[in-house]
Amino acid sequence: MSYSASSEFTDLVSAKLALVEDELGRQAGAETPFVTEAANHIISAGGKRFRPLLVVLCSQFGDEVRDADLVRAAVVMELTHVASLYHDDVMDEASKRRGAPSANLRWGNSVAIMVGDYLFSKASLAVAELGVDFVKLQAQTFSRLVQGQIAETRGPSEGEDPLAHYLKVVADKTGSLIAASAVFGAMVSHASVETVTALEQFGEDIGEVFQLADDLIDITSTVTGKTPGTDLRENVPTLPTLLLRASDDPADAELKGMLDADLSDDAVLADVLEQLRANHVIEEARVEIQRRADRARTHLAPLPDGDAKQALAALCDEVVSRSS
Ligand code: FPP
Ligand code: MG
Repeated sequence: MSYSASSEFTDLVSAKLALVEDELGRQAGAETPFVTEAANHIISAGGKRFRPLLVVLCSQFGDEVRDADLVRAAVVMELTHVASLYHDDVMDEASKRRGAPSANLRWGNSVAIMVGDYLFSKASLAVAELGVDFVKLQAQTFSRLVQGQIAETRGPSEGEDPLAHYLKVVADKTGSLIAASAVFGAMVSHASVETVTALEQFGEDIGEVFQLADDLIDITSTVTGKTPGTDLRENVPTLPTLLLRASDDPADAELKGMLDADLSDDAVLADVLEQLRANHVIEEARVEIQRRADRARTHLAPLPDGDAKQALAALCDEVVSRSS
């Protein structure tokens, strides 16, 4: 947290996240050393723990929460996220995740998929302890995650606006789980319906910003712990490439053509990346991401002032600055 929160509050959040970390490691334990190792692989490679952080921050708007419930809610969200990454890396044929070799590279697609399933089973078991409303939201979120991935895989249908399609994919594959994390935090603290609604809208918007920024970073950064330019190589649309495709500036024509070229050669990919980084669409994408982060912040207006609200507002800036 980069804003000047009281040290008491920062300590409290860190202490809760440390409990989450311990429990994540425990949940990844399995009957055999191999499954334990494979299930821990992506968890222990690091990660921002953005969803647990949101659960913890959003749990500050209701009653005092028992640590066991708070930790369980955060762990369910992170396990679901990590499970989806095991599957996503198979779908993307990714070789790197969080700076480590992906599970599919190390053990093959079948093991990676089954380990994702294993972690999802652990999330399902944990969410059952929280109650039927949590189970329901978790299932609805899973449904959106999967449909978002399918829509991304299929691409826009005939006549569909590619940008609108992309934004819907982003909302479903990322906004959904981040919104659910905010709602889990609110629900676990028995916050009011108004608070749950405000945090759900905040989560949905900040989640979309998070994914848009992540996609921009795929182009602009060389230090993501993933292979830069993966989306470009796989021809997965991102905000900058969609803006470029929509541009009618003749100066963009050559680069537009290169987007559809064979980018399997590292030198060719590096050249397209370099040109894209220097193109006006990068700044346009940043402006759009900032606009959406500002919109996310407006949902916090009805919430009581305090450290938690300030921390959520600061997240809006942090998510954007990651992509700068
Ligand atoms: C990352 O996208 C992927 C997601 C946000 C969602 C993936 C969802 C599934 C695979 C559905 C199955 C879900 C479960 C729970 C088993 P990305 O490829 O744009 O991000 P990256 O750059 O981090 O790879
Ligand atoms: Mg991916």
